[in-house]
Amino acid sequence: MLTKLSYLIVALSIAGCTVTSGNHSSAAAATTGARKLVIAHRGASGYLPEHTIAAKAMAYAQGADYIEQDLVMTKDDELVVLHDRHLDTVSNVAEIFPARHRDDNRYYVIDFTLDEIQQLSVVERFALKDGDATPVFKDRFPLGKSSFRVHTLADEIELIQGLNVSTGKSVGLYPEIKSPAFHRDEGKDIAKATLRVLQQYGYEKKSDKIFLQCFDSSELQRIHGELMPELGMDLPLIQLMGTEEEYRWMLNDTGVQRLATYVDGIGPSAALLVAPESTASNIKVTGLLELAHAAGLQVHPYTFRRERNQMPPFAKDYDDFLRIFFDEVGVDGVFTDFPDLTVRFVESRK
Ligand code: G3P
Ligand code: CA
Repeated sequence: MLTKLSYLIVALSIAGCTVTSGNHSSAAAATTGARKLVIAHRGASGYLPEHTIAAKAMAYAQGADYIEQDLVMTKDDELVVLHDRHLDTVSNVAEIFPARHRDDNRYYVIDFTLDEIQQLSVVERFALKDGDATPVFKDRFPLGKSSFRVHTLADEIELIQGLNVSTGKSVGLYPEIKSPAFHRDEGKDIAKATLRVLQQYGYEKKSDKIFLQCFDSSELQRIHGELMPELGMDLPLIQLMGTEEEYRWMLNDTGVQRLATYVDGIGPSAALLVAPESTASNIKVTGLLELAHAAGLQVHPYTFRRERNQMPPFAKDYDDFLRIFFDEVGVDGVFTDFPDLTVRFVESRK
């Protein structure tokens, strides 16, 4: 949810850099004619538990252009597709391996082998409230129903590449390297491991159907400057940015110019693109998209969800949320939990 706090941080970060909608047509025009991208956020996660093979197949069938894989590493160095480095909010790990938590009571992916992790059932994301599991998103897939398992990056690439063969389409990958510093502290080089798997499956060049994303700017610079040259790779990179203090340096011309030396695009929180004082009749862009487009960077904000409490107050409904960001702000694509609704919107604009 776009909280008041996040809006405040953004307002402070980009103070003096807001533009009333309508005054920024040049940046939006920079991508006029290019296909607007629908990126399935953790799959069709509005309908099925996130990052399951079923959610990925559904996203594919709904017409997503790219499908996202958040990546973490197991004890035996496998790359698995999970958002958190913990297992306890999307699986029954606490029931199956009750004693295997750390002192903070969390169950870490990195403390389990792939074989152990694949003994778990994956469920809709939940939080514990007074000891009871409560779904984070009510009215989504029911908790604990059916049967889903954790899978590897290789499994998912084979699914997407297999569907590309059987359908004749060309859907892309959008992997995210999660917590590289944490993995390094645990003795693992997740960026190098990810690049090796991607290379093994033929993703090597800028023109391949992939974007590789990360929140960690130092790691992206290492991937750009050291790892990819070492491996003979040159993939398109995306700098993710949140509303926290650590991303503030990226939100001005100097910062964006610096980003453009090592990435091909940005993946900002949607709250970094539209000013907090916006209303339904007066959308004010922050200026970040113009800076990014002027620097030749694509802009793919996250996360677009149809639930009312997941949308900013200035959006009347989900289509209006999309209209504001695609038509008024001029983004090049969005991360969404609802690929079908987003594809329908993009198609209606052709
Ligand atoms: O990677 C884009 C978006 O997914 C970032 O947020 O926390 O869902 O990985 P998160
Ligand atoms: Ca992600």
